Amino acid sequence: MSVSISDVVRALKPSETLAMAGKARELKESGKKVYDLSLGEPDFDTPAHIREAAVQAMKDGHTRYTAATGIAPLKQAVVDQYRKVHGLEYQPAQVVVSNGAKHALHNVFRALLNPGDEVIIPAPYWVSYNALVELNEAVPVVVNTTEATDFKLQPEQLRAAVTDKTKVLLLCSPSNPTGSMYSPEELGALADVVIEKNLLVVADEIYERLVYPGHRFTSFATLRPGLAERTMLINGVSKAYAMTGWRIGWSMTPLDVAKAIANLQSQETSCPSSVSQYAALAAVGGPQECVDEMLVEFTKRRNFVMQRIASIAGLSCAEMGGAFYAFINIAKHLGRTYGGVRVDDSTQWCLELLSQKQVAMVMGAAFGAEGYARASFATSMENLEAAFDRIEAFVTEK
Ligand SMILES: Cc1ncc(COP(=O)(O)O)c(C=O)c1O
Repeated sequence: MSVSISDVVRALKPSETLAMAGKARELKESGKKVYDLSLGEPDFDTPAHIREAAVQAMKDGHTRYTAATGIAPLKQAVVDQYRKVHGLEYQPAQVVVSNGAKHALHNVFRALLNPGDEVIIPAPYWVSYNALVELNEAVPVVVNTTEATDFKLQPEQLRAAVTDKTKVLLLCSPSNPTGSMYSPEELGALADVVIEKNLLVVADEIYERLVYPGHRFTSFATLRPGLAERTMLINGVSKAYAMTGWRIGWSMTPLDVAKAIANLQSQETSCPSSVSQYAALAAVGGPQECVDEMLVEFTKRRNFVMQRIASIAGLSCAEMGGAFYAFINIAKHLGRTYGGVRVDDSTQWCLELLSQKQVAMVMGAAFGAEGYARASFATSMENLEAAFDRIEAFVTEK
């Protein structure tokens, strides 16, 4: 008997970054050395004091369901951090702790969107946004940005994309996949259109702590008085504290949205993992030097990667203000053959790079930007050096 899957779920495609990482893993399992620049996951171990807090939580018996929206001290620590760092005043009741920022995004979209509602998503975009919107039978409206504007949505583009169905603007700064960061002035100009057109904003600020020298992060909710009332902030511990596997993220929203998400989460997942929440409490509420130490290492890698890309003929890349990705323009190296194989687009380019040189990157097409490939530099300097030697050999060999 063949079971029929719902239309909405049947239309979903698996995450392309995970698919590429899966191909790299298969190759590794066949015994080949693979240089994997495909995944957005810090290669550092979770700092020791955070792991110890999880062990202690287990010893203390924190092994039961928690409140659906998360443990009170973690929500308080999140609120305290936003007050200290951004001067934003939230109540703990506005925070819902979820199973990662991805789940927090799902909760926010589920709580806000009705079928047919439009969500404006600037491209290049993170691979999961469209799928998370479509799960609600809402409509992603993709607006293309260009390298010339550092992949930043322009206020006039936003204004032109708004229709009477538009409900939400999604913003991700620093950006996955481009690493570009909006300045406070640029965000302020978008905020003015948001207010004028009466939109809501989902601000994915998961890379907030990974910002390079010369750049400054501004939380969207701080930009104009009253903006917090229409802003859904998304954040979490995965990237800043190297805690991807612990699955803790959160949304901070207006109170009525937080209450709706609390109901949703109580029915869907009961609560996030108790032990992980105690680990996240140690991360957010504890010493922050570990974040600075990781940033020092990421800065070295980012400078190395920018310099290597600039040194390879025909490759280029906009300067990264934050996150740990290089969005490399490969257009000049398309429309030719590699080892006898004709390569016309970013997908073929990444597949050939993997099979001929064992370097895994993700095709720009997955992020809505053909002619590019994304390299994550969340891997050791040694791997980066070897990977870029191979990328150089790939594009320069005839
Ligand atoms: C832009 C962006 N948002 C959200 C997430 C999800 O993070 P989490 O691991 O907390 O679910 C990621 C992870 O890759 C991301 O790049």
